Formats: sequence, structure tokens, C-alpha cells
Amino acid sequence: MYNAFFGFHETPFNLSPDPAFLYRSPQHEEALANLIYGVRSRKGFIALTGEVGTGKTTMLECLRDYLDLQQFEFAFVFNSRLTPDQFFEMMAYDFDLQCDRKSKTDVLFALNTLLVEQAERGRTAVLIVDEAHNLEWDVLEEIRLLGNLENRQGKLLQIILAGQPELDRKLDAANLRQLKQRIVLRCTLNPLNREQTHEYIDARLTRAGMADQTLFSLDVIDAIYTRASGIPRVINALCDNLLVTAFAMEQRTTTLEMLDEICSDMRLDWPRAGRERLARSRFETAVEQEPLSRSSYGD
Ligand SMILES: Nc1ncnc2c1ncn2[C@@H]1O[C@H](COP(=O)(O)OP(=O)(O)OP(=O)(O)O)[C@@H](O)[C@H]1O
Ligand SMILES: [Mg+2]
Repeated sequence: MYNAFFGFHETPFNLSPDPAFLYRSPQHEEALANLIYGVRSRKGFIALTGEVGTGKTTMLECLRDYLDLQQFEFAFVFNSRLTPDQFFEMMAYDFDLQCDRKSKTDVLFALNTLLVEQAERGRTAVLIVDEAHNLEWDVLEEIRLLGNLENRQGKLLQIILAGQPELDRKLDAANLRQLKQRIVLRCTLNPLNREQTHEYIDARLTRAGMADQTLFSLDVIDAIYTRASGIPRVINALCDNLLVTAFAMEQRTTTLEMLDEICSDMRLDWPRAGRERLARSRFETAVEQEPLSRSSYGD
């Protein structure tokens, strides 16, 4: 909508997990390196956890690009509210297994054939499950059993479970201790810090065609950081809304006032929001009262 006005060749703050816009914070870099290392070294299970909107699916999309490039066989299961039968069917579709995909026995047989073939070529196949915190216990148990497929050189199927912090808590449950023991790598994504938020916004704008941006002042970015609590998805939503507002007002920069209005439209709450609102309303009252107090001095 505003791309031409600001001179972007792509929308800078999309909400999709697009690897082309990857900002390599040290923790994102480390998570991706861990995922790739885990796959290459045939380690078994890897868990990737993080709060909502911190970049888990983006990391998995980067891994998917890597696997495509390296011609690894993989299946990406992103709908985790599944029964065990649906899980097997979905995995069979994604691995493109040529069998009766509704029969668990057939799927396991075809999968085993694929895994052995891959192993003979010195490769692992990868199963990626996003939103894994939603998985039912019986599906998690099936996944654990899939993780048992191995030959003498190592695991035949590398499994990556990604999800919100509830996943960690689920894996701590007594009935999943066998699965927990098999997790060899755990990575966690945390929100960005203030400095990273500045770099993140600059990086996305540069990627969209605006190096040396002047749209967001340092103060505005600081305020975006506080209000988004460093969560990339919320940062994107705030920046996108700011650009829409500036475009509508035919302005080439964004302001704290615009941000205030957007946060209130989004009903956004952030730490110390109440205190900031109170301070602002006191300030506005003082400004309104200023002419009165002047006149009371009778000048
Ligand atoms: N390192 C990053 N570089 C660029 N963009 C990022 C990064 N991390 C997150 N984002 C952006 O933040 C938004 C949310 O990311 P993503 O969907 O990957 O989060 P998530 O952790 O999977 O969220 P959820 O818990 O809701 O599934 C996306 O628009 C994504 O592009
Ligand atoms: Mg996600």
C-alpha cells in the first residue's frame, strides 16, 4: 500500500516467516547453527522453544531452505492438533510416501524403506514438527517411537520439535521422560534486546530497499522496543501500522504520538504502560493549565 510512497521494493514488516528478511541476532544465529548441526550429525531429537512471535517458524523456514538446497528428504508438519492417524497421514503426504497413507502399518513400512535408502547414501531424513506444544500425548509417544529407528551409524530420522515454552514443560512430564532423555539439543529464542531491536528494524528496512532509514527516530525505536517487549512479531505490527499512518498523513517520518494512538488501537499492554500513561496525562494536564497559571500572575 505504501511501498511506492516510501520507495520500498518489498513490504518491510510483513508478518510472514520469510527467511529473506532474516535478522541474524546471536541467538537466532545460534539456533539455526544448532538445527543444522543436529541434522548433519544425526543426533536424534532437537527441541526449539520460545515465546509467541520470537521467530521459531522463521528458523524452521531457514532450515527448510537449507534442507532443500542440500537435497535432504524432510517432512514439515505444522498442524499439530492431530490424532495419531492424522499425524501419520500428514507425514506420509509430506515425505511423499507412495503407500496407503491412511494405514499406519503401510506408512511405517514405506518410511522405513525411505530412511534405509537415505542412510545408504549417507543421509538422514528430517521430520520437523512446528507448534509441537499442542501435540497430544499419544502423538508425542508415536514420535518418540519414530526416533528409535536407527542403524549402527546413528539415527535414521532426525526429529525437530518446535513450540512455545509449554513444550518444555510438557517434555518435563513424568510420562515423557523417555522422550526427554532423547533430546540431545535444546535451543531457546528470547525476545530481542533494545540494541537488537534497532538493528532488526534497520535490517528489515535495508532489505526492503531503504538503507540509512530516516523513518523511525532513535526515540521512536526505543519506544517500539518497550511496547513490543522485544518480540519481533509485535515490532513488525507496530512498524507496519506506523508506516500506514505516516503514509495516510503524507509524512516521511513517524512520531511518538502516532505510536501512542496505534498502541491504544491495538489495545497493547507493555510493562510500565500504566505509569507512562499517567505521566503523559499529568504532562498534558500541566500543558493545558499553563495559560491559566500565567494569567493568574496578571502579566
Ligand atoms: N530473526 C528474525 N529475522 C527477521 N524476522 C524475524 C525474526 N524473528 C522473527 N521474525 C519475524 O517475526 C514474526 C514472527 O515470527 P515467527 O512466526 O517465526 O514466530 P514464532 O515464534 O513461530 O511465533 P508463534 O509462537 O506464534 O508460532 C514474523 O513476521 C517473522 O518474520
Ligand atoms: Mg510459529
